[in-house]
Amino acid sequence: MRLTLSILKADVGSIGGHTKPSQKMIDATKQAVSEAIAKGLLIDAYVSHTGDDIAILSTHTRGPNNTEVHQFAWDTFLKATAIAQKYGLYGAGQDLLVDAPSGNLRGAGPAVAELEFEHNPVKTNKVRPAESFMMLAADKCGPGAYNLPIFLGFADPMYCAGLMLPKLIKGFTFNIIDMDNTEGDSDGEPAVSVSAMRLHNIAGTYTGKDDPVALMRNQGIFPAPEELVSAFTKAHYVGGDARGSHVMPLMPVPINTAVSGIYCLPLVSCTGFSVDASGHFSENVNDFFDNPAWDYVRTKAQEKALYMREQGWSGAAMLPYHELEYSGFRDTVEGLMKQFAIRDGHKKAAAPVAARR
Ligand code: 13P
Ligand code: MG
Ligand code: MG
Repeated sequence: MRLTLSILKADVGSIGGHTKPSQKMIDATKQAVSEAIAKGLLIDAYVSHTGDDIAILSTHTRGPNNTEVHQFAWDTFLKATAIAQKYGLYGAGQDLLVDAPSGNLRGAGPAVAELEFEHNPVKTNKVRPAESFMMLAADKCGPGAYNLPIFLGFADPMYCAGLMLPKLIKGFTFNIIDMDNTEGDSDGEPAVSVSAMRLHNIAGTYTGKDDPVALMRNQGIFPAPEELVSAFTKAHYVGGDARGSHVMPLMPVPINTAVSGIYCLPLVSCTGFSVDASGHFSENVNDFFDNPAWDYVRTKAQEKALYMREQGWSGAAMLPYHELEYSGFRDTVEGLMKQFAIRDGHKKAAAPVAARR
């Protein structure tokens, strides 16, 4: 069969600030998903959150950008929004940026990562005798957060020794999305799909962070899980956290982790799935970062964060001026600029504006 994997993800409200959705929101999402499976819209699904973002991962046979699947996710996010509103949660409906999606969720606010491929997991299938993949979900960061680890995992034999083996030696083709010129976009390629939403570009103002999701197929003709997760040991600096405007390290965390760390450190979860011949997920998932092996990296991320933010927002700690998410920061700087006067150094110094008032 032609199988589609879809991650549809949105921040539609959270408890005690931008931390995590409420249990009632998660329960309502799970309930809606069960109904969609019972109706035959989806084959299987997995609901989780990373920080304040709810992710619906599903299998179906309707292809990427399917109107019904995307509309179902939108309606489900609206249900969770209504709960967030009822209980006075923070940022209710934050990522639902339009009144109604036109056909699919792209450009409407929620993050979308989808892969479609031929699914025939039998022993005689030389290419893909079993289907295994990972879901990545990140909070408090921009869409480029995965660029470095995914590049290293798929292109650098120092991380993916499998690239020296016959099955992988041809390497992979990368389709790079230019997020400022999106007219000619095509859908991803079959190894990886990364969401490429820039909420600021959709809404025209800062409404919340992009918080990307990704699908990565692994094993066989693709890198092994350990080759794909290894680059996350860097806790590399990414753009986005703390008012969407700072540069901070990406900390690997278990799935369903709330934001509670210093300066709302950017988080990433990584969950492993297998899919049977009928498109159903395995009974359990593998939570890659829920392991003491990652405790050192978490500590390292916190240390890197402290070092960076020891200098407050100055210099490299804050995003470049044109990337700042809060236009309020720019307005403040422009307000200051107006107070400057050019002095003629050869004449008597002009009095500062403030003194002239
Ligand atoms: P969220 O999109 O996760 O709500 O992020 C808000 C933010 O800017 C945190 O710094
Ligand atoms: Mg939020
Ligand atoms: Mg978020």
